Amino acid sequence: RVLVFDFGSQTAQLIARRVREQNVFCQIVRPDLPVDRVRELNPKGLILSGGPASVYAEGAPQPDPGIFDLGVPVLGICYGMQVLARAMGCEVKPGADREFGRTTLTVAEPSEPLLAGLPSESTVWMSHGDQVEGLSGAFASLATTGTCPAAAVKHRECPVYGLQFHPEVTHTEHGGHLLANFVTNICGCRGTWEIGRLIDQEIAGVRETVGDARVICGLSGGVDSSVVAALLYQAIGDQLSCIFVDNGLLRQGEAEQVRTEFGDHFKTDLHVCDARSQFLGALAGVSDPQQKRKIIGREFIDAFKREAVSIPNARFLAQGTLYPDVIESGANPDGPAATIKSHHNVGGLPEELGFELIEPLRNLFKDEVRAMGLELGLPEDLVWRHPFPGPGLAVRCLGEVTAEKLSTLRAADAIVIEELRAAGLYRDVRQAFAVLLPVQSVGVMGDGRTYEDTICVRAVKTDDYMTADWYPLPHEVLGRIATRVINSVRGVNRVVYDVSSKPPATIEWE
Ligand code: XMP
Repeated sequence: RVLVFDFGSQTAQLIARRVREQNVFCQIVRPDLPVDRVRELNPKGLILSGGPASVYAEGAPQPDPGIFDLGVPVLGICYGMQVLARAMGCEVKPGADREFGRTTLTVAEPSEPLLAGLPSESTVWMSHGDQVEGLSGAFASLATTGTCPAAAVKHRECPVYGLQFHPEVTHTEHGGHLLANFVTNICGCRGTWEIGRLIDQEIAGVRETVGDARVICGLSGGVDSSVVAALLYQAIGDQLSCIFVDNGLLRQGEAEQVRTEFGDHFKTDLHVCDARSQFLGALAGVSDPQQKRKIIGREFIDAFKREAVSIPNARFLAQGTLYPDVIESGANPDGPAATIKSHHNVGGLPEELGFELIEPLRNLFKDEVRAMGLELGLPEDLVWRHPFPGPGLAVRCLGEVTAEKLSTLRAADAIVIEELRAAGLYRDVRQAFAVLLPVQSVGVMGDGRTYEDTICVRAVKTDDYMTADWYPLPHEVLGRIATRVINSVRGVNRVVYDVSSKPPATIEWE
């Protein structure tokens, strides 16, 4: 395995994902992980991530200096390079020119294994104010940029490398290749960490934990819970019971797909809780967004609990917690605990019901969960489905939620998604949907005047859903969506497109 020391969460996660793309297991750890623990984990390589701090600032995170004496190859990236250069006696200073954005990297040592296969010039992404000055004789420069004579460096005696630019971001042309060179050519990793093996490992782990007890898995219709259920089904077959709460706020065809997948295809013990009228009843007359969310959360717990207690002898509750949630929750003693944020998909439910929690996806990133889903035989359109919020269509049906409005919204939403698929844009657009606005406007249809509802189309591109840009959908696609919605969805005479980015807008409307 390779350890990534986290000096700034987002870049560390990107690095870990790039390393895992090489089928090398990679774990994110806190920046000051003691050297004894590092030794125990027996890594083949260490990567020190970039980060927002300046190494000479007071309280700037520092690694245990002992990690440089382990003889394990180390790669420092940006801040990580400055950390290691400083630990090895170089000086770090604010550069004369701060460098942000794209710049050209010129390779000075083409025979160096770290740079194997790189063209003599390529585009890299820089983002730093400090740089390493005076390599103190200990380091050799392997590559340069216009303003940075030491953009890539290597220690003359030990396997310690540094990159002043960010190989993990997509703007760096051959960044993935560079990281692959580090883990294979320099650390000697063989790339045997594959999804198939991982499934086998998880299946064995689940069987051992669970024994002959019964496990409950809540299905939402989304990717994560579906993969958990498919994996558990492989592991424990009929010891698995799935609960699906149909809250009436789902997209078109979603409830049917859950039934088909988990009732017909995987023959799990599927409990569908038809809570449609319970949710609609509780939402009647409520138009405040926060209030709507609260009600939905409460009703969900209520419905789920009712169903769960009807399943005898259940001891475990399975959840689709992913690695980024684990990193951010600070739950792992080796992990970076910087941002403590509790993450529970179903609140305090497991404790309340006396269940033990199992989280078979807790070491995986989203793209790995998708790969696992495909390997387990889930259909592509489920595995690549856009994320969908827990409160469902209720937060896209602005104002009061009624059965009639939901049916209008569901029909319009299905058209948006169909047209994106038909245009081959569904995957590139990371999230898209229709919103039903509480706005009526005047139109003409045939000879008559209409006064009807407005549908807004929302489509965004984003990597992490924390920030997002509106997606520049081609005019023809927007045109087809508008024509179809207005012609076939009763009660709608106008379609508008949302061109706001996040921030300051959010992806959802409520
Ligand atoms: P916003 O609207 O905050 O959404 O920009 C960011 C991402 O989170 C999803 N989202 C939710 N997911 N429960 C969820 O599981 C929720 O209550 C919820 N609210 C928003 C949203 O769809 C987007 O992908």
